[in-house]
Amino acid sequence: MAKKRVITYGTFDMFHIGHLRLLQRLKKLADDVELTVAVSTDEFNELKGKKVMIPYEQRAEIVANIKCVDRVIPEKSWEQKIEDIKRYNIDIFAIGEDWKGKFDYLKEYCEVVYLPRTKDISTTKLKKSLANFLSIPKEDLIKAFEILETLKKDLE
Ligand code: CTP
Repeated sequence: MAKKRVITYGTFDMFHIGHLRLLQRLKKLADDVELTVAVSTDEFNELKGKKVMIPYEQRAEIVANIKCVDRVIPEKSWEQKIEDIKRYNIDIFAIGEDWKGKFDYLKEYCEVVYLPRTKDISTTKLKKSLANFLSIPKEDLIKAFEILETLKKDLE
């Protein structure tokens, strides 16, 4: 069977299980998939009004080192997709179903697929959890860390 070239786009901030599952699903779209991931740069996220926790270089390095990923490129603008599809001979553009319908205009250039998202996890949720965690009273946090330290010592 011929190799299928698949491309996806995303920020992949605070890399989580939903991201991993999506990349794994992309790799399984055909028997032999070459997977290109366009990771949004910090500047492009700013343009999208998205604040990132982890800088582009680290997000790109993490994604590039996921087993099923073959190539990482920077996503710098909304408009680059057609050029990328042509440059990398892409057969399938695929992305999570939160974008359903938004990229149908690419059907002129390749197949367009929207994949199910993993339930109950997102970077937004992680950021909220972190904010909640940090709003825990300082004394409680100190107590929690003391308990952790004791547990650690018990394990040594
Ligand atoms: N994704 C997914 N399942 C999740 C979260 C994300 O399949 N639970 C997919 C998205 O649909 C997208 C890719 O992972 O195709 C990258 O998404 P990204 O926007 O970077 O991650 P989110 O966790 O959705 O981030 P945010 O909450 O900031 O939108």
